[in-house]
Amino acid sequence: MVTAADSAECDVGIIDGRVAALGRDFSDADRVIDATGKLVLPGGIEGHCHIEQQSSVGGVMSADDFYTGTRSAVFGGTTTTLSFAQQIPGEPLRKTVQDYHECARPKAVIDYGFHLIISDPTEQVLGQDLPALVADGMPSFKVYMTYDSLKLDDRQMLEVLSTARRCGAMVMIHAENHDMIKWLTDRLLSGGYVAPKFHAISHADIAEGEATHRAIRLSQLMDVPILLVHVSAEDAMEEIRRAQTSGLKIYGETCPQYLFLTQSDLDRDGAEGAKFCCSPPPRDEANHQVIWRGISNGTFQVFSSDHAPYRFDHTGKLAAGPNPTFPQIANGVPGIELRLPLLFSEGVGKGRIDIHRFVALTSTNVAKIYGLHPRKGTIAVGSDADIAIWDPDKELTVTWDLLHDNVGYTPYEGRQVKGWPVMVLSRGNVVVEDGDLKVDRGSGQFVSRSLSQAAQPLGRLVPEMDPARNFGADLLP
Ligand code: URP
Ligand code: ZN
Ligand code: ZN
Repeated sequence: MVTAADSAECDVGIIDGRVAALGRDFSDADRVIDATGKLVLPGGIEGHCHIEQQSSVGGVMSADDFYTGTRSAVFGGTTTTLSFAQQIPGEPLRKTVQDYHECARPKAVIDYGFHLIISDPTEQVLGQDLPALVADGMPSFKVYMTYDSLKLDDRQMLEVLSTARRCGAMVMIHAENHDMIKWLTDRLLSGGYVAPKFHAISHADIAEGEATHRAIRLSQLMDVPILLVHVSAEDAMEEIRRAQTSGLKIYGETCPQYLFLTQSDLDRDGAEGAKFCCSPPPRDEANHQVIWRGISNGTFQVFSSDHAPYRFDHTGKLAAGPNPTFPQIANGVPGIELRLPLLFSEGVGKGRIDIHRFVALTSTNVAKIYGLHPRKGTIAVGSDADIAIWDPDKELTVTWDLLHDNVGYTPYEGRQVKGWPVMVLSRGNVVVEDGDLKVDRGSGQFVSRSLSQAAQPLGRLVPEMDPARNFGADLLP
């Protein structure tokens, strides 16, 4: 049995869905699962995925609903998902969230929660809706610095950060400089450079680095922690590293696409490259090495899939036609099922990280950052018995036919992996065994989350925000 901190050769006793004891030779049980020779790990927690949500480009619906999305997740060793509830401007946020609850409740096969996406931070949203939803167990918001329909300006970002500070919520930031992307996009289109590969050119590395720097400074002004999501490249990663070194509470997330895909994948034949269009885009092999460094040196606390699944047809990537121009392509790649096996195989298997860091990145840190720990993210007395039993020697060649999503392809087709979750339990119930799903739709439950220590302000104020140094002005929320 392995957690983020320890490993032990022991039995795990489960009563009423929770871990009741860790010890030796438990025999008096209704069922005994023999995990000899396997690794017994906390179930993965997917902290970033898009399920039954419309794309930010083109407004197409994700290919996975809460049944196929959570089914795919659990076959890959994940036992909790945190997907997004995206604000619809003009609609009360509480109604939007209710709609997501109604989608998830009858379909999810594992536990789930929601982060709120804030695209229209009105007084009502900031003053009433967000605090109420945080109190209802959703203490995390995502904001975007790009996408026409979602982008907040710096002033709006400060208002959201101020609200998060007041409520104790974690703010996830999609950091890319919108105007750089728009300018590059317009120039590329007017030059006739319209193929999918130009998506990677328009979402320049420097645009991610600049926005990451700005997001960190905005959070520093407000003295509130933030988490930079889906970091793809050295410039952004070094901004995060520098901020962490200076003692700021800045967290970083990266994803499989920034370790295993490159911008050359966007240059595949015909419209095939559309399958690989996500934002930020996959970079190059030099950046893969940089991202591995950030994973192994602790710059990244969280490894997520950013599963944003769109089929390669008129319902998804090709909604604008068989040969879309790059800005017409729904952004996102699937990866919820392969998130853990890819990191296990290439990280633990190849000696880049140890198994404890693997558990931390994929489960424990996610639980801590988003207010699920210690209920989830570990195997400890009292925690939910969310457990993945891994065969570290099982070898597979990835092919979409093996997966359980509704996407129709995988960007990782043909990759060799070693290490696979062979049995998965959620709250003590066996969900996956012998390659079969053992539970019905709707067996997952909404998990109400608490405020996390990770989201608490540092208490280190810039002089202008500190009444002891700003002539007594009280500016903090
Ligand atoms: O390309 C991506 N990542 N699509 C999903 C939307 C987002 O930004 O998270
Ligand atoms: Zn994003
Ligand atoms: Zn995303």
